[in-house]
Amino acid sequence: MPTQELKATIKDMVVVGKGILAADESVKTATKRLASINVESTDETRRQYRNLMLTTPEIEKYICGVILFEETLHQKSDSGVLFPKLLTQRGIVPGIKVDEGLAEFEGSIEQYTKGLEGLGERLEKYKNYGCRFAKWRAVYHITENTPTEMAIKRNAHDLAKYAKICQEHGMVPIVEPEVLIDGTHSIETCHKVTEKVLREVFAALKRENVVIDCTILKPSMVISGKEASNRAGVDEVARQTIKVLKATVPYELPSINFLSGGQTPQEATAHLNRMHTLNEKLPWYVSFSYARALQDPALKAWQGKDENISKAQQAFLKRAKLNSLATMGRYTEDMENMDLDMVVVQ
Ligand code: 13P
Repeated sequence: MPTQELKATIKDMVVVGKGILAADESVKTATKRLASINVESTDETRRQYRNLMLTTPEIEKYICGVILFEETLHQKSDSGVLFPKLLTQRGIVPGIKVDEGLAEFEGSIEQYTKGLEGLGERLEKYKNYGCRFAKWRAVYHITENTPTEMAIKRNAHDLAKYAKICQEHGMVPIVEPEVLIDGTHSIETCHKVTEKVLREVFAALKRENVVIDCTILKPSMVISGKEASNRAGVDEVARQTIKVLKATVPYELPSINFLSGGQTPQEATAHLNRMHTLNEKLPWYVSFSYARALQDPALKAWQGKDENISKAQQAFLKRAKLNSLATMGRYTEDMENMDLDMVVVQ
């Protein structure tokens, strides 16, 4: 096990005030995002959008890692530098989504994640592009009958296998079990499901002898279903999330970086911030690894037009800065209406 290499990566990715940008949308997901601003999805428009984000001045102050999608490894910035190299030059660690998407269990809405076959070989290829960490996402659907024991066990098993293979190849695994926000379920149901899921994931990681202090967890927050009536407020989400994490996550895990999972950008920032103002001692670093909650305002500002690039980069930088402040419990709601330069780190 190349422990020194893994430890060095963890050191570069667990930095006070910083978090991770997930920019690893598959072609299908990127196409959906671009369609929302009426931009046709082509290799070139996806490259332009990634170029906008990854060349935003000063993001290295708030972002220490970026998760990329395979096609982006071969793409270059406007100035002709391969994206992973550009990130490395900026002091940001490049990483890569290595799962190959979701497949349905027969006759069920439940899903498992594809991509274990040939993973080791792919990791070696990604390392040659400069990637130092990887990501694998499993999903859990909350309905009256799901998630089932079978889906919870299978996904935990695959997450652990993936994490083990990553570590053997010197890549830090981001383990992402996402309890989906879709549905009318209560926050209590989400708490119960998340607890079961995380218990099973850490039991599987242990069985596979995954080195926990060289692993990053990317969980969903404990939150009411998107269509639930009487959705729980910011304080409740923060409390229940920390409660479930303390009950299930080993203290030697270095970092927990949340996904945003369909929360609005403001919600995702407020929830993270509240976790840091609860007056609870957190044994791990607690930060973000958002895609939509970091990108959406920038995507809207861009609209696929060159003349909007600077405005879009400002919107992106602002979200990165507000989330950075949230990791230190220094975000306040009034910052949402301020210009970027007026948001002062106290
Ligand atoms: P969201 O923050 O948009 O949920 O995306 C995070 C992610 O990486 C999904 O796999």
